[in-house]
Amino acid sequence: MSVYPKIVVSPPGPKARELVKKDEQFISPSYVRYYPLVIESANDCIVKDVDGNEYIDLNSGIACMNVGHNHPRVVEAIKSQCDRFLHYSNTDFYYKEVINLAEKLAEITPGDFEKKTYFGNSGTEAVEAAVKLAKWHTRKQLFIGFISAFHGRTVGALSFTASKPTQRRHFFPLMPGVAHVPYAYCYRCPFKLTYPECHYWCVDFIDEFVLQKYMPPEDVAAILFEPIQGEGGYVVPPPEYFPRLKKLADKYGLLLIDDEVQSGIGRTGKWFAIEHWNVEPDIICSSKALASGLPIGATIAKAKIMDWPGGSHASTFGGNPLSCVAAAAVIETIKEEKLLDNASKQGAYALKRLRELKERSDIVGDVRGKGLMIGVELVEDKESKKPAVQKAVRVITRAWKRGVAIVTCGASTIRIAPPLTIQGEMLDAALDIVEDAIDEVAKEA
Ligand SMILES: Cc1ncc(COP(=O)(O)O)c(C=O)c1O
Repeated sequence: MSVYPKIVVSPPGPKARELVKKDEQFISPSYVRYYPLVIESANDCIVKDVDGNEYIDLNSGIACMNVGHNHPRVVEAIKSQCDRFLHYSNTDFYYKEVINLAEKLAEITPGDFEKKTYFGNSGTEAVEAAVKLAKWHTRKQLFIGFISAFHGRTVGALSFTASKPTQRRHFFPLMPGVAHVPYAYCYRCPFKLTYPECHYWCVDFIDEFVLQKYMPPEDVAAILFEPIQGEGGYVVPPPEYFPRLKKLADKYGLLLIDDEVQSGIGRTGKWFAIEHWNVEPDIICSSKALASGLPIGATIAKAKIMDWPGGSHASTFGGNPLSCVAAAAVIETIKEEKLLDNASKQGAYALKRLRELKERSDIVGDVRGKGLMIGVELVEDKESKKPAVQKAVRVITRAWKRGVAIVTCGASTIRIAPPLTIQGEMLDAALDIVEDAIDEVAKEA
């Protein structure tokens, strides 16, 4: 019997309710809260709320805590850096912490070529930097992005984000020159085709109906993509998708910008998800799990592409020493604890279990994923495939009340993204709760 989770007071307990009330008074209402979970502390795969309940974390603080919460090695690295210095603008001076991390990133990112890294403080900044760099290097203004993508909320990145209208409503005009094309979402093919008989029409479409019609390729700088769409619903393209996209990019000399903010740092069982497709991007964006909860954004590019001059791009806190030592500790921890292997192993097990659930459940339409980045898409019925939006909300709320911190993505997809440290018994305990919640919700009207 698993000792976790532990529910001692039905959530939200009195302390949580009080804090949520105060939050409503003082905090920006622009955040989306799934349910009133108020965190007091966290350790490895467990988060504890202010009323003493302990939950198994199946979302990793939204895909940030890949090495587990408060990993002792990460905490120790941060503490000892605190004793040395907290800040000394990397934009104007030098320190070894940032250089060491860039060297490690060059080693773990795909491609046996020289690389350089720009450091910011978030995922959206990593994307902004990639877009600006592509413009600088190519002297071209146009870009191709994807429908249902999420790349962040600052204006440049938001110009590519396209997964929910609320992200863009009333924020126009955005950066001009971005054409959005359908993603390889085979369960809901935007062209109503079926894989593999479609012969990857979604790639040929970009060539025939975008580049050859209204985005002159000689003015297009890059294609920006997520290798697995995250906020869009944990959508995994089929095996030849990215090799074909690369061929298209090569045909016209376009750069490939790979946004690994959510899918990177081991989440899928590889350092970066694009490795599953054996494609080497020109620019990679990393953030979230890189510094285990401390703010960081990294834009890693081929050295010959990162050729912009002093003054062209920088941010005061980018590459701050605390985040850099935390990130170095994350990379070492993933190597030493063989967390890529564990993500593959536990992920394969979870996928198998959830695919069995799909076979017997009337509301599980699709189960997909790589490593510990797994989506369970709920539908009203398997014929119409109508997204079961409210059912998904009921499932995650029910699971939370029983001790699993889990969230959705896309319209009605349950995301399974625990720390990569999770082991069998705890994973089983969490999946039992999620499966029960799905089964119960399926039986309700
Ligand atoms: C793929 C991807 N890119 C970019 C971002 C933006 O990151 P941030 O919220 O740190 O700005 C996110 C955040 O969820 C993301 O999933």
